[in-house]
Amino acid sequence: MRSDDSVLNRIQRNWVEGSAAGLWQAAVVELQRLRSFVDIRLTASHPLEVPAGIDASTWIVEQFANLLRAFDTEISQCIDEPDLGVMRTSWLGRRSGVLSLITETWLKQASADLKPAVGRELNALRAHVDAKLEERRAEIEARSEELSLARERVDLSLPGAIRPIGTRHLIRQVFQEIEDIFFSIGFSIVEGPEIETPYYNFEALNIPEHHPVRDDMDTFYLDLPKGAPGPLLLRTHTSPMQIRTMEKQKPPVRVIVPGKVYRRDNPDATHSFAFHQVEGLAVDTDITFCDFTGTIEYFVKQFFGPSVKTRFRPSYFPFTEPSVEFDVSCIFCGGSGAAASGGTCGKCKGAGWIELFGAGMVDPAVYGFVNYDAKKVSGFAFGIGIDRLAMLKYGVDDLQVFFQNDVRFLRQFP
Ligand code: PHE
Repeated sequence: MRSDDSVLNRIQRNWVEGSAAGLWQAAVVELQRLRSFVDIRLTASHPLEVPAGIDASTWIVEQFANLLRAFDTEISQCIDEPDLGVMRTSWLGRRSGVLSLITETWLKQASADLKPAVGRELNALRAHVDAKLEERRAEIEARSEELSLARERVDLSLPGAIRPIGTRHLIRQVFQEIEDIFFSIGFSIVEGPEIETPYYNFEALNIPEHHPVRDDMDTFYLDLPKGAPGPLLLRTHTSPMQIRTMEKQKPPVRVIVPGKVYRRDNPDATHSFAFHQVEGLAVDTDITFCDFTGTIEYFVKQFFGPSVKTRFRPSYFPFTEPSVEFDVSCIFCGGSGAAASGGTCGKCKGAGWIELFGAGMVDPAVYGFVNYDAKKVSGFAFGIGIDRLAMLKYGVDDLQVFFQNDVRFLRQFP
């Protein structure tokens, strides 16, 4: 075999010189290691032949020093336990380890006068190999322990996992604002069922079966199993809680009722089949119309700010008499009806007033349903549409965004 066609030379040509730039460095290193591995084993498998004219014992010492240097280079390149395993077999392996080869060829085949020197050097080399292997093993073990410790160490200075904290929905915030205002003037807060009987939703509120206002309000009835007591419906307003509250307690009564209500409405920018109300009810022995308007005015000013004005117009609800609609002076144009840019205000359409909610003095007929003495008690009630109030106060122009749960909208109200 021509020497330039040896395995090592072919590796040199094909793997090293032909390798991509990124691999070249690694290939060079590997080839060097392979060359020295092969060299050592070649030397070790030939009996020693002291060249003529050279001092034999010095020469022997040199041969062993070469081996020792080669071993030191190899072991310095071991970085983990598997590397060490390979080293161990390649140097100490019984059949073809370097030391076995040397024992077989250099020692056993040495002439009688060289044997003692070769034996001495061989023992020294073996001691060195043993000691170095153990030393390196300890180093590698310590380092891997260090590494795994470092990997497991908890760094308390690292920033924690930040989970976004939600905010309360704008509707929830407005509920809270309204609750705070009424709570501060002696109202308590109660909640009631969203599934109601027609009795509470209609009859006891003075809306008998064939009353025309039911046309607006008759709504989602539940599909009940045959034989179940019924009918039941999703409440169309929070007013049923007026009845439930008065059934449970004697006057004085001062409650507000936040909650969800349902109507047969098609969704658009101002309508939804589910929306929110806060009902209010105050009943006592001496409540007048002035208490009523004063309370509402107080609430509206607290909610929209002290500069707004309120007014009421006659209206109709079967369970209040008289009934009114409360208006607030337009919060966009300050009640002037004129837009800042000239022309009429688009929000109140030039009226200067915005309709807020319905209310009234409790109709004496209602007291009949709850065993209150209509001659002794009087009171007022109101039903505030929360979605509408939130839209006005926070400049939201589409009711539907309240129900879409788009965080880009919700985040604007932290
Ligand atoms: N329940 C009425 C509605 O939903 C509002 C209202 C409540 C009116 C209380 C008067 C008194 O339209």
